[in-house]
Amino acid sequence: MLLRSFHSSSKQIIRQASTNRKSINEFFSQHLSFPFLQYKEHLHVARGEGQFIYDTNGKRYLDFFAGIVTVGVGHCHPRLIEAATKQMKKYWHLSTYYLQDSVRDYAENLLEHFQDDKHLSVCLFVNSGSEANDLALHLAKEYTKQSEVITLRNSYHGVIQSTLCLTNIAGFKRSYLTGSRVAMTPDPYRGIWGGQYCRDSPIQTTRSCNCQKDHCQASDRYVEQLEQILDYEVPKKKVAGMFIESIQGYGGSVQYPKNYVKKATELVQQNGGLYIADEVQSGFGRTGTHFWGYQGHGAKPDIVVMAKAIANGFPFAAVVTRPEIAKTVGNYFNTYGGNPIGCAVASAVLDVIKEEKLQENSLRVGTHLLEKLAKLRDQLPNVIGDVRGKGLFIGVEMVTDKESRKPYPIEKMNAILNRCRDNGLLLGKGGNFGNVFRIKPPMCITIEDADFALNVLEDAIRKEL
Ligand SMILES: Cc1ncc(COP(=O)(O)O)c(C=O)c1O
Repeated sequence: MLLRSFHSSSKQIIRQASTNRKSINEFFSQHLSFPFLQYKEHLHVARGEGQFIYDTNGKRYLDFFAGIVTVGVGHCHPRLIEAATKQMKKYWHLSTYYLQDSVRDYAENLLEHFQDDKHLSVCLFVNSGSEANDLALHLAKEYTKQSEVITLRNSYHGVIQSTLCLTNIAGFKRSYLTGSRVAMTPDPYRGIWGGQYCRDSPIQTTRSCNCQKDHCQASDRYVEQLEQILDYEVPKKKVAGMFIESIQGYGGSVQYPKNYVKKATELVQQNGGLYIADEVQSGFGRTGTHFWGYQGHGAKPDIVVMAKAIANGFPFAAVVTRPEIAKTVGNYFNTYGGNPIGCAVASAVLDVIKEEKLQENSLRVGTHLLEKLAKLRDQLPNVIGDVRGKGLFIGVEMVTDKESRKPYPIEKMNAILNRCRDNGLLLGKGGNFGNVFRIKPPMCITIEDADFALNVLEDAIRKEL
């Protein structure tokens, strides 16, 4: 129980711990709803620095999940602390009623990253990825005056009610919500079609195919499936838009066959719909080859949604779109949207990514990790079905049998995660069946960190064989 007493001289209210205060484990389980707490023995965090976090016993962990793909430039980066503090000393919050330098500076800085898509020239600021997707949905419907929306199976776009209609992962679905038109996941590993040249990744599936290196037929088949949705399910083929994560994040780092996103979104655009690129996980240089994931697909979005790494963990998110689409926003209002501290931090994030060459580092260290993981896939018997990704956006799909691709049991996944934690490595887990390790560390990790993580993971997997 918390007691309050007055400090005799300053009259400040201070909190004292009573002798019968609950343990933190007990308190969390009784008074907080944190259904995703990880680990058999919960990890009680004391502080973070760069790519590491430290628990309350002083033990260090290499953080390979970065607060769920959010701490892009590393924990407690001094440049971000300085930017936030500087703004906090001026003022914290005013709302969108006034002109503010930090908001202008950030929007200018962010739009510099749309040099190849100059038509995307208006920013709208909100607080989370879900809010940003909700706003994108609102804009798409207002602009097109249509209500039908297309998404991909295995997608994750947030779990507030409007975005739950866009998210297609079983564990999050609610029977009382109607959804979107759901297209087949163009997954070269687990999908109906896929082969050895599909992915824009140093690592391909082990499936064989008859494709020429430069023409992936799987991509064409999946686009045909999408076309059938328009032909059979949508009145007059009219849709408000299609939401696509440039690489599926929560769904297990699923990459699509080359050209799928370009062809699919062109088809939607030809029918009057908008292409909404969800860059919540794939933006800000993580994929290594490009700053935005959609650029890797050669596609042209009408709306780009971003959050997470945008401000390294400060609650902040954005939608960037064309002026004529932004205009349809009407009386949308968001008290904290464009918070000046968030803008200051987000600006510093962009500067750090550029100055510390973190996108380049993602490509270099990510490719090293991918190549070593693929070797491990081939060396170990029936356990790693697929290794995929780009830069530091990596998935390792676990199976009980490489032939049938039957998902690895959740208990074994958890045993490996817990063993990695015991040995100083924190990983993420995802996929509809919870059988994919998600490797998405801060983009400042080194080759030495990568090798440490590979050793810990290999050891943890081998102990399960
Ligand atoms: C691709 C994607 N879109 C949207 C969201 C929702 O973001 P938030 O949790 O900030 O609401 C997430 C969150 O994981 C995400 O991964």
